[in-house]
Amino acid sequence: MCGIVAYAGDKRAAEIIYSGLEKLEYRGYDSAGITTLSGGEFYTVKRSGRVCRLSKCLEDMRGATGIGHTRWATHGEASDVNAHPHLCGRFAIVHNGIIENYAPLKAQLAEAGHIFLSQTDSEVVAHILDSVYDGDIIGAVKKTCSRLKGCWALAILCKDFKGFIAVSRGSPVIIARGNGGFFAASDIPAVADGADNYCVLQDGDVAMVERDECKIYSAELKPVSREFMPVEREQYAWLGDDCSHHMLREIRSNARTIRATCQKFPLAAGGGLYERLRGADKIIFVGCGTAYNSALAAKRLFSGAYDAFIEAVIASEARYNPPAVTDRSVVIAVSQSGETADTLKAAEILKEAGAYLVAVTNTGYSAITRIADKVLPVCAGSEICVAATKSYTGQLACFHLMSALPDYARRKAELLKVADEAEKLAADELLSLRIAELCVSSRAVFFIGRGGDADVATEAALKLKEVSYIFSDDYPAGELKHGTLALIDEDVLSVVIICDECLAEKSKNAVEQILSRKGKVALVTTIKSVSDEFSGRVSAVWLLPPVPAHLSHFLSAEALQLVAYRAAVLAGRDPDKPRNLAKSVTVE
Ligand code: AGP
Repeated sequence: MCGIVAYAGDKRAAEIIYSGLEKLEYRGYDSAGITTLSGGEFYTVKRSGRVCRLSKCLEDMRGATGIGHTRWATHGEASDVNAHPHLCGRFAIVHNGIIENYAPLKAQLAEAGHIFLSQTDSEVVAHILDSVYDGDIIGAVKKTCSRLKGCWALAILCKDFKGFIAVSRGSPVIIARGNGGFFAASDIPAVADGADNYCVLQDGDVAMVERDECKIYSAELKPVSREFMPVEREQYAWLGDDCSHHMLREIRSNARTIRATCQKFPLAAGGGLYERLRGADKIIFVGCGTAYNSALAAKRLFSGAYDAFIEAVIASEARYNPPAVTDRSVVIAVSQSGETADTLKAAEILKEAGAYLVAVTNTGYSAITRIADKVLPVCAGSEICVAATKSYTGQLACFHLMSALPDYARRKAELLKVADEAEKLAADELLSLRIAELCVSSRAVFFIGRGGDADVATEAALKLKEVSYIFSDDYPAGELKHGTLALIDEDVLSVVIICDECLAEKSKNAVEQILSRKGKVALVTTIKSVSDEFSGRVSAVWLLPPVPAHLSHFLSAEALQLVAYRAAVLAGRDPDKPRNLAKSVTVE
């Protein structure tokens, strides 16, 4: 996914757009660029690499209108020429999404004499605009969009228009008012410093925006109005704390996220949700990455609460091999961003097959909320680090409450208590350092556990690999002897999670099997007797505060988020912007 920003106002556009792009870098950071418009002329700078590489090139960029882009490369390498904006004749554009039919369009245009500079799909948009333009800008936009297939959030400059044009089809665009004008952006953080309120463009909308006027039209070019809502600045005010990375700040926000999600839940959970779940024949969780991993925990929580057949499926698989559902089925789509293409598509398919669609998301105005029958908010606040941490915690909190309906007060009280423990744990995170050092000095790291601990092991392996680039994987502890044990030696670390008294004895067997083959073991446990038994025999023991097994994932997951963060820093990585990744994958 990429990030787009546009501004039309009474201030210099270049610096305002630059600042917005810095806040959107979590959406992609392969290259960046800005074009401003002044006196009918474009001023453009674009570079491969991070947004900060533009900082020294802004002073000559005139104009109070402009567009900007920070890229996660899909078509064409991360290079200056492939960076957006893309220009052709009287138009400059930035794009987030995928133009699926760009190749035939590009061939037709090249046939007609168009010269393409980049290998991107997006560049065709600028060329089509210029080729169909006859003085009617919005008509050219409509003609251009009618030729495209795929998804797009576009910000467009035309030399004959003082403002900018924004278009949304399958990729998010917000329009915000403030700072002496109007903004368009992929996400609120880009405008939170300067904007007072915002609205969300609906699919197909086209916005013609000038310094003091914003006209929005539907895909059929009928004037429409979209509700402007206040920007909740506190959600986006990144505390001036001593956190050197968003990832650490966001892990330390786990506790606040649990409390905020508990607080908001009652407002969202009504409307027959409990009846739907109690009467369901199937409850299917669908998500990707961490959102799928939290769904594994949800499946366990729901299995004890509802009679339905309960499953968690990976969205990219479900979209091609969807589970059978009926109109009594409930599908719960889990997505921090609410924009993940695989999750959106799987949710659409299952809804079309008759299921009732619930969205559990951290982004209230996202695409998933527009197709869901019911939205349950995760109240983590804007999550900037590419690695999901507090949103995972908020998803867990939401699932706990959903599994405790209709009377969830007791569960809420338990969650608030475990939030206090999580807050203390995150403050004392140096205990993670020892295990992080072991990870960095190992050839590979395996996370193992049984039951709910196995679910945490899956998430912990993803966290470590995605921010530190250390090979890590997860296994149910019982599976070790069925193959993976062959990989164990003194250069391999096994992080064993034991937080369930009922399964502790069995998990201890796995520890013995590893030790007897000279494997390194780090133990993460809430059980003092287990800690006592292995202290001195294993390379590290992290004894977490004692909490009931069904709540222990809040603490073990947070501990291993801290380990992943520390390992990334020790390995010299940028934990907020890991290579090759983006915060939300809005393409297949
Ligand atoms: C997790 O740390 C990763 N950032 C990634 O796996 C992510 O969870 C996945 O892409 C799903 O994103 P979503 O929750 O926004 O749908």
